[in-house]
Amino acid sequence: MKCRVCRGPAVIDVRRHNANFCVEHFIEQCERQVAKAIEAFDMIAPGERVLVAVSGGKDSLALWDLLIRLGYDVEGLYIGLGIGEYSDVSGDHARRFAAERDLTWHVLDLREEYGYDVPTAAAATRRVPCSACGMSKRHLFDRVALERGVDVVATGHNLDDEAAVLFGNVLHWHTDYLARQLPVLPAGHGFPRKVKPLVRLSERESAAYCIVRGIDYQVEECPMAAGNRHLGYKEALNTIEERSPGTKHDFYFGFLDRAAALFRSGATIDAEGLSACVRCGAPTPGEVCAFCRLVERAGGHEPGGAVPVTLGRREQP
Ligand code: AMP
Ligand code: FES
Ligand code: ZN
Ligand code: ZN
Repeated sequence: MKCRVCRGPAVIDVRRHNANFCVEHFIEQCERQVAKAIEAFDMIAPGERVLVAVSGGKDSLALWDLLIRLGYDVEGLYIGLGIGEYSDVSGDHARRFAAERDLTWHVLDLREEYGYDVPTAAAATRRVPCSACGMSKRHLFDRVALERGVDVVATGHNLDDEAAVLFGNVLHWHTDYLARQLPVLPAGHGFPRKVKPLVRLSERESAAYCIVRGIDYQVEECPMAAGNRHLGYKEALNTIEERSPGTKHDFYFGFLDRAAALFRSGATIDAEGLSACVRCGAPTPGEVCAFCRLVERAGGHEPGGAVPVTLGRREQP
């Protein structure tokens, strides 16, 4: 197996691109893919400040590293979700990454700040944990981005994540979600711009990137997500990709090129009807935003309530 660029010994094959790479040229390949995504979708303009949301997993740590290598002005944000040992280990990886490189980063702990954690929120709301988890993360990304005055929030969603969410949204014809499933969500109504610069890299590539760059990451999946639909969609796509490399890429980028606009016309994104939440100021269609209602329901309970994982209910993408 020889590197496509230098013909030296290759360490990874990327079947989707029908190419093998040595360490040096694999790192270059990852940089190129991220730069290409940023440029193609106008994700980050030169000089803009970026907040990267880091979970301590391979994708977001690879993203942080890649954005720095590409010369962006980046700071990190880690949110303590209170999911037992999983969160402790994840936080340690994020902390070590930042400390070893002397990077600016912020930690926000749900229990310390709001008096709840993801397991208790799931128990209190009687919905799948990822629902409260996702809502909390989105709210805090927005809050910290506004406080820090950054221009854009970057998350580590990769090609596998986006293709799996797309697959789920198509299977169930969630047309509203399809209209919004873009690698860039523009700023507006108090929300900062949201970008996903890893959409051109697969999960396997972000893991390989961390290994060759010597980045330690949380290898466990979130225990609360075990068995959820999203993982099933990923497995199904992996089976197809195995037989036909490149299918995930074609599915996702074909959607962006040829189908996404069709859903946007009928979408009910009525940003006009939003006003400031009376408690926290975040934009909301009602008086009190969904996050503040979650805090009210879930806050004040003891940590780690029993988690009724109600599978098969509608999940937030
Ligand atoms: P997930 O929803 O766990 O697949 O994560 C998607 C992206 O959200 C990650 O790549 C991170 O950018 C961000 N993220 C997930 N968990 C956290 C966390 N605890 N703190 C900050 N960002 C997170
Ligand atoms: Fe956090 Fe599912 S509980 S992603
Ligand atoms: Zn090479
Ligand atoms: Zn609120």
